[in-house]
Amino acid sequence: MSVVFDPFSEDFFISPYETYRRMRDDAPVYYSQEYDFYALTRHDDVAAAFKDYETYSSAYGVDLGQVRKGEVTEHGSIIAMDPPAHRRMRSLLNKVFTPRAIEAQRALVIELVDKHLSAVDPTGFDVVQDFSALFPVDVMTTLQGVPAADRQQIRLWIDELLHRESGDVEMTASGQQAAVDMAIYYFRLIKKRREELGDDLLSKLICAEIEREDGRMEPLDNIEITEFATLLGGAGAETVTKLIGNAAVVFAQNPDQWELLCSDRSKIPLAVEELLRYEAPAQYNVRCSLREVRLHGVTIPVGKPVFLVGGSANRDPRAWTEPDRFHIDRDRTQAQNLGLGYGIHSCLGAALARLESAIALDKMLDFMPKFEVDFDGCKRVNMQNVAGWSTVPVRVLS
Ligand code: HEM
Repeated sequence: MSVVFDPFSEDFFISPYETYRRMRDDAPVYYSQEYDFYALTRHDDVAAAFKDYETYSSAYGVDLGQVRKGEVTEHGSIIAMDPPAHRRMRSLLNKVFTPRAIEAQRALVIELVDKHLSAVDPTGFDVVQDFSALFPVDVMTTLQGVPAADRQQIRLWIDELLHRESGDVEMTASGQQAAVDMAIYYFRLIKKRREELGDDLLSKLICAEIEREDGRMEPLDNIEITEFATLLGGAGAETVTKLIGNAAVVFAQNPDQWELLCSDRSKIPLAVEELLRYEAPAQYNVRCSLREVRLHGVTIPVGKPVFLVGGSANRDPRAWTEPDRFHIDRDRTQAQNLGLGYGIHSCLGAALARLESAIALDKMLDFMPKFEVDFDGCKRVNMQNVAGWSTVPVRVLS
């Protein structure tokens, strides 16, 4: 039977890796009759496509629902831009997201991780709902200057707008409502912030200037800042939530690796990289083909959605030795880890993602040096682009 890759199916949400293996071996340029998209799954092909923005455009969006509409959005967010607009926006944001600015957040991240982890009940808690869903959005919205009382509401909106019913490409009605409510919320907050600037990210974006098409320097308008603020919610909070939920499950399945980390905390950064490789929170990003592509005997016509499946590329035995083994000490020089993307759109928040994940793992090692997961009680999210758990019941062992 020929392989079926349905990114909106229960099968995919539960475990895509066997499907990926078959795609890499038998259909390296996969075509979905049902949804009319193509998908690349081999490491070489995905990495090359991430770099080739002239063929694989982001300007039509990076999820299937957006790309198949075939429209370029005027006021797109950075993730949905091609050069030269992308270059101009990225160089502005790079000035705000400097490694120094991120490192300066270390104390804040430690405080927020501690706050949420110390509130859980060690005899039985949900790593995701009680911990990993709470602190990343707190970090992001604190940086943005969102008032404390509204911070978790942002997360609830994002959960809603990324959710997909099984078999449905488009947002649900409540997802659309959440997207509108969140945009209105940020728009109002930005307007207010213009009148009383602070030291937060939104204030920095209000004060920054971007180079326009004609070379003029100009401040960003409220809609541009709103686009970016809402993107950061999804890109910056959901992903770290998934990485830490995945960590609890993967380490419970590989207790020797947790012991290794317990005995040598200097390996925490390696553990973060291995988690990004082994169980990528962002499984794929979609592009639109701007040119006809001929690859592995298949022709991808112009104007088609193309899935770049980083989650599969990171498990490709053509690139990695024993890719299905979770191994903190693996040789990382073998291939490019695509867990944080690659090329011009590679994760803008990579330094913050690594900092948050490393601090969370360090605190978890203190709090739960021995633990067990109730695997039967684990539940997965049904989301597009992002994959991971919504529930991971854990008990700390003495
Ligand atoms: C474990 C956590 C994270 C993962 C797995 C992740 C993954 C990714 C990936 C795969 C991309 C590439 C998207 C594409 O090529 O279309 C990306 C882009 C991006 N990420 Fe992250 N990310 C994480 C955390 C963060 C954080 C904390 C922030 C916020 C500070 C952030 C902000 C962004 C932004 C703004 C982009 C778009 C960059 C551009 O288009 O130039 N991410 N991320």
